[in-house]
Amino acid sequence: MGLKTLLLVSLLLAALELSLAAGVHHVRSMPGSPLNISTDDRGLRQVVLAAAYSFNNQSNDAFLFKPSAITRAQRQIVKGLRYIVDLEISRTVCRKRDHNNNLSKCDLQPKGRLQQTFQCHFEVWLIPWENETNVQVFLCKS
Ligand SMILES: *[C@@H]1O[C@H](CO)[C@@H](O)[C@H](O)[C@H]1NC(C)=O
Ligand SMILES: *[C@@H]1O[C@H](CO)[C@@H](O)[C@H](O)[C@H]1NC(C)=O
Ligand SMILES: *[C@@H]1O[C@H](CO)[C@@H](O)[C@H](O)[C@H]1NC(C)=O
Ligand SMILES: *[C@@H]1O[C@H](CO)[C@@H](O)[C@H](O)[C@H]1NC(C)=O
Repeated sequence: MGLKTLLLVSLLLAALELSLAAGVHHVRSMPGSPLNISTDDRGLRQVVLAAAYSFNNQSNDAFLFKPSAITRAQRQIVKGLRYIVDLEISRTVCRKRDHNNNLSKCDLQPKGRLQQTFQCHFEVWLIPWENETNVQVFLCKS
């Protein structure tokens, strides 16, 4: 097989894998509307975690925040996968200066002065065959 054929085949395979992964049965109806996905979706969990790291990296808070609820989880097929997510992100008891890099070990703050939750909306676009992740929107408000 020539290089061009190989490239075409791998693109087709990538497209096939995507449609299988998304559980889309009618290839012709693929482009377009965002569909609800499970909050257990592996790709979703990855982008949510990446969003939390990015949030923490950009905040000046003394504590780490972590996702506390996912209120909207959608995925759209557009030259890759686009995740559209609404989530709540809340302050944990872990201090940033302790450099704990495992958020699942950090409990949320108990009720009180330090308890705080932000409502965030983000859209991330993954192009698996180019190994590329683009954060298109990331907005949070308290
Ligand atoms: C998608 O999820 C949202 C929020 O969870 C819900 O309000 C909506 O009814 C769902 N849409 C469909 C088509 O299931
Ligand atoms: C954290 O933010 C800084 C500057 O805002 C950036 O240079 C760095 O790459 C970011 N690190 C991570 C892990 O996102
Ligand atoms: C983070 O901590 C949890 C719970 O203790 C553990 O199950 C998980 O393997 C840890 N993850 C990493 C990347 O260390
Ligand atoms: C994809 O990106 C990751 C992280 O940036 C890197 O470790 C990996 O080697 C890359 N894979 C390919 C096929 O480029």
